[in-house]
Amino acid sequence: MSDKKFRIYATCHIGDPALNRLRDKGYELEVYSGPEAPPKSVIVEKVRSGIDGLITTLRDPIDGEVFEAGKNTLKVVAQIAVGFDNINRADANRCRIPFTNTAEVLTDATAEFAFFMMGAVARRLWDSEKMVRENQWGSWHPFLPFLGDEISGKTIAVIGTGRIGQAMIKKCSGFDMNILCYDPVYQDNKFVAAIQELMDLRHRTGLQQEKTRIKYVTLEEALSQADYVTLHVPLIKEGENGAPTHHLINEKTLKLMRKDSYLINSSRGPVVSEAALYKALKEKWIAGAALDVFEKEPLPSDSPLRDPEIEDRCRLFHHFASGARITRLSVDPNKGMAGRCVQGLIDVLEKNYGGDVTRMPYVVNKEAFKS
Ligand code: GLV
Repeated sequence: MSDKKFRIYATCHIGDPALNRLRDKGYELEVYSGPEAPPKSVIVEKVRSGIDGLITTLRDPIDGEVFEAGKNTLKVVAQIAVGFDNINRADANRCRIPFTNTAEVLTDATAEFAFFMMGAVARRLWDSEKMVRENQWGSWHPFLPFLGDEISGKTIAVIGTGRIGQAMIKKCSGFDMNILCYDPVYQDNKFVAAIQELMDLRHRTGLQQEKTRIKYVTLEEALSQADYVTLHVPLIKEGENGAPTHHLINEKTLKLMRKDSYLINSSRGPVVSEAALYKALKEKWIAGAALDVFEKEPLPSDSPLRDPEIEDRCRLFHHFASGARITRLSVDPNKGMAGRCVQGLIDVLEKNYGGDVTRMPYVVNKEAFKS
C-alpha cells in the first residue's frame, strides 16, 4: 500500500484484473462509463481537478490543453496501446509529464492478425463463408464460382521492420515466403541475416523445397516486386520528428504495386490515403486490400470503402489486431496491455527505479527527463 492515495482517471475500462491492482493499492479510481471515448472536455476537467494519473486509449486526443491542465499535478499518462500518435509528445515534454505505452506485449497478436487478414483477403474466406451462409453454394467445381491466391512461396514486402514488422517476417518465413524489407529509418541487418540463415537451414534440410531470400530494398523495389505489401510503420505526420509516413501509400505508390498484389494495413489508418486506395480497388490497379485501421475510426457509414462493388476484394476490420484475450487484458505486464499499462502508471507514481523516469521501461518520452 502506498502512503499517498493517488487519484486516477481512466478514459475507458481496461478490465478488472489490472484495475484491481490499483484498487488493492488503495488508489482512488474513476473509470469513464461508456464504451465510447469521453468528450475531450471531460478529460480536461478531470485533469484540472488534480488527478495524479490518467489512463488513455488511442481514441483520446491528449494534447497541450490536457497537459497544461495538469501541469503541476498530473504525474503520468498511461496509454493502453503501443501507438501514441494521439499524444502530443512535444506538449508532454514541455510540461514535463511522462507518458507510457504498452509496446512488446501486443507484437505477436498484431503480427498474426496481419497474417490472418492477408489470408482472409487472398483466399477469399469471407466470400466463401457468405456464399455458404446465403445458401448460394451450388456444387464443387475446379474454379467456380471463384478462386483465391496462395500465400505460401510468394513474395511479401514488409514496410517497417520494427517489432511488429519483424514478428510478421518470422511468421512469413514459416510459409516459405521471399521477403523484401523496407524501413524509412532503421535497417536491422542482424535480424535479416538471422532470418536468411533460418531460410537456408530449412532449404538445406529439405523442410522447404525452394530457396528463399530476405533483403532490404528501396520502397519502390518493395512495392513493385511483391505479391503482398504489409504495413508496420508508426504514423508520422509531415513536420513531426522522424520520417513522415502519412499517406505513404497514395496514388503514386499504389501505382507501383502489381495488379495481382494485395495491401495489408494493421498499422495506422492515415498511412494509407483511403481515397487513393478506393480508386485502386475500383479500377483494379491492385488485387485487394485488408484493413484493420482507417483514416477516421470508426469507419464512417458513407466511406467509399463500403462500396459493394469492391466488397469481394476489400476486407474491413474494427482495429482489432491486438484484440486477443491475454494480449488485451492480462494483468501480467509481460503478457497483457492492461497489465503493462497499470505497471507503467505505478512505476511513475511510486517512484520505482529510484524515481528515475529515464530508467522506467514503459515510459516513452524519456528525453524530457534526461539531465
Ligand atoms: C493499437 O493499434 C495499438 O497501438 O496498440
